[in-house]
Amino acid sequence: MNCFSVPPVAVSQVLTAWFAENARDLPWRRDVTPYRVWVSEIMLQQTRVEAVKPYFQRFVTALPDVASLAAADDEFLHKLWEGLGYYSRVRNMKKCAVQLMQSYGGELPQTVDELQKLPGIGSYTAGAIASIAFGVPAPAVDGNVLRVLSRLCNSDADIAQASVKKQAEQTVMQMIPQENVSAFTQSLFELGATVCLPGSDAKCERCPIEQYCLARQYETVGVLPRHSAKPPRRIEHHTVLLLRENGKYMLRKRPEKGLLAGLWEFPNIPGQADEAQAVSAARKLGFEPLRVRVLPSAVHIFTHKEWHMTAFLMDGTFESENAVTADADELERVYALPSAFAVYRGIATGKPEK
Ligand code: ADE
Repeated sequence: MNCFSVPPVAVSQVLTAWFAENARDLPWRRDVTPYRVWVSEIMLQQTRVEAVKPYFQRFVTALPDVASLAAADDEFLHKLWEGLGYYSRVRNMKKCAVQLMQSYGGELPQTVDELQKLPGIGSYTAGAIASIAFGVPAPAVDGNVLRVLSRLCNSDADIAQASVKKQAEQTVMQMIPQENVSAFTQSLFELGATVCLPGSDAKCERCPIEQYCLARQYETVGVLPRHSAKPPRRIEHHTVLLLRENGKYMLRKRPEKGLLAGLWEFPNIPGQADEAQAVSAARKLGFEPLRVRVLPSAVHIFTHKEWHMTAFLMDGTFESENAVTADADELERVYALPSAFAVYRGIATGKPEK
């Protein structure tokens, strides 16, 4: 993909100069260490900057370095990550930290090749860490960067294709300046996040590289990038059971594999159960209901599926010795519950959640 009317490095010089003036003040830009870059880049995958900010601060305060992450308890990690989603990210980070302690003296390696061998680090994250933390010329191409490049080059190639991402990485390689590699990588993120916005939100009049942008010239900004249609999300129905005795609610741990692996949840059964079915399910779980109330239904949207939940609150008695139960305070502070259950946790704690 050669779409430059001037040497690509001239475009990047304009971008890095613009970045110096326009960079947002973000927590991970303040004290740039390889560990902090790594944590922020993992958190920023599939997650908005504003959502990441408080999580980042809390995470690096609780676990300031590779050694503390490697030694962290899984339950504690899940709690720190609670609400961010894609929990395998944090489990992979711990695995990675353990390997770094065993084989790399507790430091992140500096090359893309070595970084990519580590758990949870793919070509994007390796390029971001190498370039931002170590100044190594390496491309870091995420969705924002693909949008910028598709427009810069007026390319209607489908950005969902791996081959298109590879080409984009080559284009970025041509653009990487000799100096200021870290600022260059971040300038592309910044442009994508604040100026080269999706669809008709693009702010071309504020773009420092507008004069080099072929999509601007051909008036195709609003329709680029092209992304092949995703299959529709699968809808699953679940019935959630809030089983309560003396202010304590029953919890159970999800299986160690699959969606939301290892997190805690309110017991639930597949399908849209009526009251009689829900009561029977509660009894099977070792709970004898005395009073049953219907709760509001809720929907939670994951990347590939939607949970449509009906729910019941039952007061009664736990007949099983080994039921795990939590009061309102423990539901907030101890157990990591995925956001899918936020509405029901809000009901249980008396503090409605967003
Ligand atoms: N998106 C991905 N990485 C980012 C970063 N380091 N800063 C801002 N947005 C980003």
